[in-house]
Amino acid sequence: MASAHPIESAAKVGAAVRGEFPIFETATYLNSCSQGALSHRVREAVEGWLAGWDANGAEWEFWVERNEAFRSSIAALLHARTDDVAVTTSVSQGVSALVSGLPLEGERNRIVISEYEFPTVGQIAHAQELRGAEVVHVAPGEDGSIDADRFAEAIDERTALVCCTTLSYRSGHRHDVTAIAEIAHEAGALVLADSYQACGAVELDVRSLGADAVTGGTVKYLLGTAGLGFMWVRPEVHEALVPTQTGWFADEDIFAMSIADYSPHASARRFDSGTPPVPSLYAGVAGISLVAETGVPAVEAHVHALGDRLLDGLEELGASVVTPRDAARRGPLVCVRSTDVGALVGALAGERIVVSSREDKLRVALHLYNVEEDVDTLLAALARNRALLA
Ligand SMILES: Cc1ncc(COP(=O)(O)O)c(C=O)c1O
Repeated sequence: MASAHPIESAAKVGAAVRGEFPIFETATYLNSCSQGALSHRVREAVEGWLAGWDANGAEWEFWVERNEAFRSSIAALLHARTDDVAVTTSVSQGVSALVSGLPLEGERNRIVISEYEFPTVGQIAHAQELRGAEVVHVAPGEDGSIDADRFAEAIDERTALVCCTTLSYRSGHRHDVTAIAEIAHEAGALVLADSYQACGAVELDVRSLGADAVTGGTVKYLLGTAGLGFMWVRPEVHEALVPTQTGWFADEDIFAMSIADYSPHASARRFDSGTPPVPSLYAGVAGISLVAETGVPAVEAHVHALGDRLLDGLEELGASVVTPRDAARRGPLVCVRSTDVGALVGALAGERIVVSSREDKLRVALHLYNVEEDVDTLLAALARNRALLA
């Protein structure tokens, strides 16, 4: 049912959630692309892990339950079935397990990757050259975007896997994963969408996204901490793909304790690995609950409105913005060129404005807890440091 009010007015965003995040008492925090802000809730969850350990020793069953609670939270976030979600310790672990199950020695030995992949995806792809794979890179066009057509030129019947990150960590561009997946599927290739820079701030629905595997982690917009990730894998794919990189939590029965065979779980749990990252599970479940209470569509609408304000201000400053203006082609990350980005990040840090950089670009990340004042504070500081903007 359509609401009579704008989505933001009822949503738990901006000032309505800011009190959960102590960092805003002392800083303008615009760095969720590196690490989400710490909330009271996540702190309490991690302290709960320590308290339980103190009081009860090994809470093994509860830890396994936390692992499953995390899996269910991710399933809800992605509109997926719990059985199709692997709990991983990083994107790297999940993607390595996925790729380890691809037969890359034959005719279909190519991995196509966008130039916007995070280093770990590119490095894992190139590691497969040792198994006979060929890696093909898809470069951005003049406007910085990598359209589906550019992927089409690189994909053919030799392609086993296409890696198209949902949102570039270094430019803020969003790929049209659905269009790219259509092209890949026509050629018989699988599609991996590393969605670390999107999950929690961009609505992702695996039922319509088109990718065969979607991965991410809890450090950024999911408001947890390091050491925990996930990988959704389409059921037809995980049923057919047998990873050779594995661990006992990927076994069909982790309590069988057998060293006599390899029996991967029937579900996407076959991409899990060893003992789960218990402290990170406590933090991850709590962090995701904050995002879930707001709802990703409301976060996305909030972030886009703040992004519009930021882009307007940057335009007024005559800055060289790398991220597309079109709301459908960007997410929570806005990147802008600098003549000396180290100096600029440092100057902003001196004013307690926390941002980050990649190459020659300043990265400004917006999330549910940011408000218009954060954007205005940044813009005013950028105006004072105009000489450092390209
Ligand atoms: C797009 C993207 N993928 C992956 C990662 C991290 O991968 P991993 O979980 O393997 O450290 C990051 C950031 O750290 C990222 O921005």
